[in-house]
Amino acid sequence: MSLGSGVPCQVHIETFGCQMNEYDSELVRSLLKREGFLLTEDRERADVILMNTCAIRENAHTKVYTHLSGLKTLKKSRPLVVGILGCMAQNLKAELTKQEPLVDLLAGPDSYRQLPALIRSAVHAQEQGERVKALAVDLSEYETYDDIVPARVPGVNAWIAVMRGCDNFCSFCVVPYTRGRERSREPEGILEEARRIASEGFKQVTLLGQNVNSYCSGDWDFARLLTAVADIPGIERVRFTSPHPKDFPPSLLEAVVFHPKICKHIHLPAQSGNDRILGLMNRTYTRQEYMALVDRIRSMNPHIVLTTDIIAGFSSETEAEFGDTYRLLEEVRYHSAFIFLYSERTNTIAARKYADDIPHEVKSRRVTALVELQRRISTERNREYLGKTLPVLVEGDAKKSALQAMGKSDGNITVIWDKSDVACVPGQMVACSIYDASASTLYARAEGGSEGSSTKSEQSCTNIVQS
Ligand code: 5AD
Ligand code: SF4
Repeated sequence: MSLGSGVPCQVHIETFGCQMNEYDSELVRSLLKREGFLLTEDRERADVILMNTCAIRENAHTKVYTHLSGLKTLKKSRPLVVGILGCMAQNLKAELTKQEPLVDLLAGPDSYRQLPALIRSAVHAQEQGERVKALAVDLSEYETYDDIVPARVPGVNAWIAVMRGCDNFCSFCVVPYTRGRERSREPEGILEEARRIASEGFKQVTLLGQNVNSYCSGDWDFARLLTAVADIPGIERVRFTSPHPKDFPPSLLEAVVFHPKICKHIHLPAQSGNDRILGLMNRTYTRQEYMALVDRIRSMNPHIVLTTDIIAGFSSETEAEFGDTYRLLEEVRYHSAFIFLYSERTNTIAARKYADDIPHEVKSRRVTALVELQRRISTERNREYLGKTLPVLVEGDAKKSALQAMGKSDGNITVIWDKSDVACVPGQMVACSIYDASASTLYARAEGGSEGSSTKSEQSCTNIVQS
């Protein structure tokens, strides 16, 4: 692919949002490479800038719009094709097509195979001085990109999307509209991908899906798939995200609890602790059913790390109902929680049926109260590791100091230690003895090393999110 001048077309991809988007950007890189496009990390040199976007909350939108307006000057100074990929392209196609002059191209999550043709036609239109937009935003019931090998950046962690879309229609959530119906990949393709990942030296695999534990292909359910991936030699750890509490049969709990390579961490999005709100959210479980699942997990292994997602300020949520969520956090004592302020999304059931009637200040106050509570609980939880030695998978340098290394515990908690303790290489497993803990980080001495001096100011990764 080249521009009219014969110079090869250089594409720069920017990714916003979740791990599924990171994975999709790897698919897009692979699709473009095989069609002869060059990829560049340098947006200043790019002929085409593609933004792979997220639509889950308002602040995700704002980020993309801010980023887009930052491209104005660049676009005025030279020929440049700007494309929006992913969930925003799907959800806001009408608005982006009519009102956003900077955008030349839109491709939804099921239309990436058409990207090479779309880019060519957008480049051609620009050369002809035409102001048309190249569009592909149809959702598919079948597209899983099974045959595309994602262009992964070598490292410790790799992701595999095992299913796409979601049929749950939680009333607040835009995903069923932006990513379409639920569909699972064939197990053979997934296992082949996992074997390739292992042979390429990746140590940890995360199985991805919008509703990952509803994976189903023939007589393969998620527990069988997870176990088969974990059995592949060379893979040290397997994780999965994001599950729904309704899809945890005993076989899946047994796989997590007993398989040595499946991480002892379960993300269990609760969203609310109140039955009326859970009903309005269409979550299909009650607080009691959710708590029974928590108890079942802990009775099998009391040390399993549980994390959650919570939404504060959903339509009509009263103070008393919010109090039920507050008490849920107190009762479960998760290791960490992502706490979100309810953000009404166009097209969702909630946007059509319920008023977004909780004032912003009230939503914010509730989020802050939950974040403060969870920060205290996370610190207490993390302090339970003091004096213990944990196996930690080395990821690389700590964000704040190249003199310190960073890795993850089996329960997915960030661990930091002085590199002078042990010379460690990303991908290596190191025994870390924990001597201090904050809400988000464990501070350790790597086994065999000297007294550590990791500073508490290192807050490289806070797992309590407020948005
Ligand atoms: N507003 C706030 N949070 C949301 N989430 C999904 N949709 C919304 C929304 N409209 C949160 C849920 C979900 C997580 C990925 O994002 O908690 O589990
Ligand atoms: Fe959204 Fe619910 Fe599907 Fe998760 S399970 S993607 S929150 S609709």
